[in-house]
Amino acid sequence: MISAISALLLSLTARTAATAVQPRQSGTTVTVDLSKTYQTIDGFGTSQAFQRAVQISKLSEAEQRRALDILFSTTNGAGLSILRNGIGSSPDMSSDHMVSIAPKSPGSPNNPLNYAWDGSDNKQLWISQEAQHTYGVKTIYADAWSAPGYMKTNGNDANGGTLCGLSGASRCSSGDWRQAYADYLVRYVQFYREANVTITHLGFINEPELTTSYASMRFTASQAAEFIKILHPTLLKSTLPADARPKITCCDAEGWSSQSSMLGSLKPVETAGQLGLITAHAYTSQPNSPMRGTNLPVWQTEAADLQGAWTSAWYSRGGAGEGYTWANNIYTAIVNGNASAYLYWVGVQAGNTNSHMVHIGNGKVEASKRLWALGQWSRFVRPGAVRVGTSGGGANLKTAGFRNVDGSVAVVVINTGGSAVKVGVKVGGGSGGDGVKSVKAWVTDNNNAIGALEAAFDAGTGSVNVPARSMVTVVLYPGTKR
Ligand SMILES: *[C@@H]1O[C@H](CO)[C@@H](O)[C@H](O)[C@H]1NC(C)=O
Ligand SMILES: *[C@@H]1O[C@H](CO)[C@@H](O)[C@H](O)[C@H]1NC(C)=O
Repeated sequence: MISAISALLLSLTARTAATAVQPRQSGTTVTVDLSKTYQTIDGFGTSQAFQRAVQISKLSEAEQRRALDILFSTTNGAGLSILRNGIGSSPDMSSDHMVSIAPKSPGSPNNPLNYAWDGSDNKQLWISQEAQHTYGVKTIYADAWSAPGYMKTNGNDANGGTLCGLSGASRCSSGDWRQAYADYLVRYVQFYREANVTITHLGFINEPELTTSYASMRFTASQAAEFIKILHPTLLKSTLPADARPKITCCDAEGWSSQSSMLGSLKPVETAGQLGLITAHAYTSQPNSPMRGTNLPVWQTEAADLQGAWTSAWYSRGGAGEGYTWANNIYTAIVNGNASAYLYWVGVQAGNTNSHMVHIGNGKVEASKRLWALGQWSRFVRPGAVRVGTSGGGANLKTAGFRNVDGSVAVVVINTGGSAVKVGVKVGGGSGGDGVKSVKAWVTDNNNAIGALEAAFDAGTGSVNVPARSMVTVVLYPGTKR
């Protein structure tokens, strides 16, 4: 929301900048082609699962607000537009366990589940309410790492095992828990709805090819398809109104390739309209080409530098935790991998790692440039934006264009070179560029964190000076909307 006064200030700034910036002589021009369209963008986000939300709740009220602003504000934060929650499976809350909404076994799948909703969900409900109601985040993705242990072949929510009753699973003496697990997931969505949070996307597995010491559950692709055939009708039969029924996602595999290999078995549930979205992580293989074998949107739902010690740096040597590296990783997923969303693993937490983007230390939060790199996308490429064609720019510039729902055109520019480049950005003639009336730009580099960048506007072209090894987002606005 822009008030009349700030709109006036913006237009004054744009005019001042216009006189200050020199005419383009040695620069380069990036031309946007609105008639060349690619995937629709659903958003950019992160997670506060595994009790990371609890860590935020223990900060002072002022720091809690800072943390939430840094994640979700579209004026002074990263403007993240997707939150990924963990659906708990643990009987307890020790360590970072995500507690189940039905922690005690009813003994048999034929008995009603013992729901024990605590109105907190390890503080994820609070973060979700803040995201949805204070910051306008529409997309809440709830994903289960495992079913509760009593529904599984290994009797434990950790250490792999699978859902009792699935074809190919070892027989469980307690019976077939497939329908109970579908009921459980739908009840979770209903608990959130009763607390005024709409869960838009629902996942029932996470890294199903991995057995590990925390919540984990094995599923093959055909077992996933088998379960979707139970979960989808369960959603339809529930009391959830049609506009509050989440889309079913699958399968949050560890890498782009392992997810790709599951698509064949999922095709029947895709064709039947029961599967809404493909999700994959970026650990074991990168999202560097479009996934073959699906027509559904594909989200990259978990990536992080899991090795390095905490760094907030933008660029020194192109290290795995540096912001510039992540600006490029996201570019690869969106432009080369055809991803419709990109999520970093954790938003805010304590600890000397780069698994998160915002660090808690001594009761204060500190944002890394990984966060601001994600924000250079998220704040300006809004949900519903369509990726469009760009051309020009030269060897050192990576560019990507997006037409937002409000008519603005966001152009992302990454300067991979060691010197600044003067760049003009315009919408190509005949593809709707006549309506562009003003420009604004923002930069992240070693000196800036989504800082305002001087931008000139002349005859439909916005001109900016893109610093060496920086990421700049240029937004061209039509006359009637600012
Ligand atoms: C949900 O919203 C309704 C209507 O605004 C309100 O009456 C109710 O108290 C809210 N419930 C919760 C749990 O916030
Ligand atoms: C990109 O993803 C969209 C779905 O979001 C799909 O329709 C399209 O075919 C994909 N493009 C390529 C080149 O795979």
